[in-house]
Amino acid sequence: MITVVGSINMDLVVGTERFPKQGETVLGNLHTTIPGGKGANQAVAAARLGGEVAMIGAVGTDPFGDELVTNLENEGVDVSRVKRVEGPSGIANILLSEGDNRIIVVPGANHQLTPEDIDHSEAAIAASDLVVLQLEIPIPSVLRTLQIARRNQVPVILNPAPADGFSPEFLQYEPILTPNESEAAMMFGENWERALEAHPNRLIVTLGQNGARYYDGDRHIRVPGIRVNAVDTTGAGDTFNGALAVALAEKMPLEDAIRFANAAASLSVEQFGAQGGMPGRGETVERMKHHL
Ligand code: RIB
Ligand code: NA
Repeated sequence: MITVVGSINMDLVVGTERFPKQGETVLGNLHTTIPGGKGANQAVAAARLGGEVAMIGAVGTDPFGDELVTNLENEGVDVSRVKRVEGPSGIANILLSEGDNRIIVVPGANHQLTPEDIDHSEAAIAASDLVVLQLEIPIPSVLRTLQIARRNQVPVILNPAPADGFSPEFLQYEPILTPNESEAAMMFGENWERALEAHPNRLIVTLGQNGARYYDGDRHIRVPGIRVNAVDTTGAGDTFNGALAVALAEKMPLEDAIRFANAAASLSVEQFGAQGGMPGRGETVERMKHHL
């Protein structure tokens, strides 16, 4: 069982030819409302790849809350620990343009997931093969999850996004960290490469289309990425983390697990939307083999 403790958002996506400048209005060419949130995305990615997944999170009492829970249920994610709280669900305002995205997250209900909620889920966390965390829920709740997982000897993947929530205090619980390069720089400074050797097999820096790198205690390993024509890179990191969780929960060796995660992420960016394009097992293994 993989337990994801994290955010659940509705993504309000707007596409436009070019990003507006400050004070400027431009006409867009697309608008859609689709389920997202780093926690939910990682849960869905893991479930599609065959993981048995439970989510701990919070949604609001607004209509988005219903849609978000139904979406997770349809993906086969156990939502019995997703609570409903008074007020709006979390949303992400996603601007897609010039082959890139700009995202504003308004946490809403996600910020009502408290350390006490995590305490109430201790038995579920203890029974998990792996716990997955991001930083879109209150930091005290992230910390409490790390503590409970540690106490019960359950490994944790902590995807430190958005990185401004990162605290060096997390490191003592020895999670597997999966920042991208800019997140790594926010966590460890511009010379983040030095941090790799301090966290062997536990600091995996993702490099987008260039794959990922880590230090295995002996050598620096770079796992090559898979180049594709990206339609929408939103959620690529989430797909990587969900896939990594499935692979590590199955005790796949780390380098193979990263290959598997790269393959899944490369498939996900070929379709629109954070959860759109998140692949199943067969496709992912196919792509991985194809690029060995
Ligand atoms: O990582 C992508 C996700 O970040 C989006 O789905 C959005 O909800 C934000 O949380
Ligand atoms: Na996608």
